[in-house]
Amino acid sequence: MNLPNMLEAKKRDNLEVNNIDYKSTLLDKSLVGKKYFVRTYGCQMNEHDGERIKGVLSSEGMIETDSLEEADLVILNTCAIRENAHDKVFGFMGLIKKLKESKPDLLMGICGCMAQEESVVNEIMSKYKYVDFVFGTHNLDDMINVINTRIKTNKQNIEVYSNSNNVCEGIPEKRESKYTAWVDIILGCDKFCTYCIVPYTRGKQRSRRKEDIISDVEKLVKDGYKEVTLLGQNVNAYGKDLYPDYTLADLFRDVSKTGIPRIRFVTSHPWDFTDEMIDAISELPNVMPYVHLPIQSGSDRILKLMGRRYTKEEYLTLYNKIREKVKGVSITTDIIVGFPGETREDFSETLDIVNTCKFDGAFTFIFSPRENTPAALLEDNVSLEEKNERLHELNELVNKYSNESNQREVGKVVKCLVLGKSEKDESKYMGYTENNKLVNIVSDIDVTGEIVDVKIDEAKSFSLNGTRV
Ligand code: 5AD
Ligand code: SF4
Repeated sequence: MNLPNMLEAKKRDNLEVNNIDYKSTLLDKSLVGKKYFVRTYGCQMNEHDGERIKGVLSSEGMIETDSLEEADLVILNTCAIRENAHDKVFGFMGLIKKLKESKPDLLMGICGCMAQEESVVNEIMSKYKYVDFVFGTHNLDDMINVINTRIKTNKQNIEVYSNSNNVCEGIPEKRESKYTAWVDIILGCDKFCTYCIVPYTRGKQRSRRKEDIISDVEKLVKDGYKEVTLLGQNVNAYGKDLYPDYTLADLFRDVSKTGIPRIRFVTSHPWDFTDEMIDAISELPNVMPYVHLPIQSGSDRILKLMGRRYTKEEYLTLYNKIREKVKGVSITTDIIVGFPGETREDFSETLDIVNTCKFDGAFTFIFSPRENTPAALLEDNVSLEEKNERLHELNELVNKYSNESNQREVGKVVKCLVLGKSEKDESKYMGYTENNKLVNIVSDIDVTGEIVDVKIDEAKSFSLNGTRV
């Protein structure tokens, strides 16, 4: 048994990254040929971990099911970013407890970011004894051992490490899409923004070796993939911990040479965004003109309290540079309202920066205090009612600009990567423009998996309608 410890999770050492290769372990015979159900919450990084959990279970002879009732093993791959992510997981656990009453052999495990939280694990040990096993973000590669031990000992098995210097290569993956693929480039985060739990749940910043990334993309190209998304909590810090002089700009150039038609990247932190990176995005035809650049707040006072390391002016300078240099770029952002002590004046500055930037889209959140983060200790004197009002006001403004951004696409002929049938209308297809706008497409033939020209006929608030030409 190993339990997470938030103080350990906070530590950063100067030790070099330890590259290890995945070693498979035989799964306990009682589960071979049986069915598994994996539910993933949270960000793209977690989605990708979900693909690995499925990859490992499938390679050990289990079969995926999307029916909870059929499952013999259920794994909840959790998110800890805000309290509501927690609530969803605990709600779902209740459902499984019920299922276990009629199916006592059903095994249930928790992993992902919530598993890294001390308070969550303590709660699981005291109140949720029906959870069979817990593993964390740092030992996904050891998942089979964790499950086997639970079966052998017939006891709740908790195996969570607080930090890691490891980067494990070659974990089997069962990818959701045949056309678009996630590729991790940097794990963890060393930024420690005062509100964020990620540096504790995902550990120290560790870049993957460039050769490993490029060889992953080369394989994806061979397998017919059309798009990769380079993933990290802060991709712009890529290489800093590994190479004296090789950055995201260099990685863009090398990944571009693989011939993959589309390269995306998330998430960017303004602090590490260099001119060389902007140049690479604007020059390389297969690096897509889309940047997700979280601002969080428009008030310098709040940005300082958040530990964001830039001022509103510095953000704006970077923002304008990207807009000027990258043709047709769309820029989205994240904004938190109701950070402890945020005054009406601070909030007005956030509205101001939204009016100045006119973001193509924004994800907006109410501040949620997270265990052991510095911001959780700050006095929070803004009422929930006020926070909700601010969120509502912000959303109205953000939606106005994303609508305007979509309206500007009407009449243009744009390239779309078609991913399949439209969810809303089976007679149409859905795909994404180069600048990452969702389009519902009329086409007389099935063009799934292809990049096609689409004339944009109509703009909605969150999507476009178009016709293949
Ligand atoms: N409360 C609210 N929003 C948060 N985010 C991160 N931590 C918190 C928190 N404690 C938001 C930030 C980040 C996005 C992924 O989630 O805006 O960019
Ligand atoms: Fe992803 Fe952060 Fe949520 Fe973890 S806490 S799943 S890293 S968004």
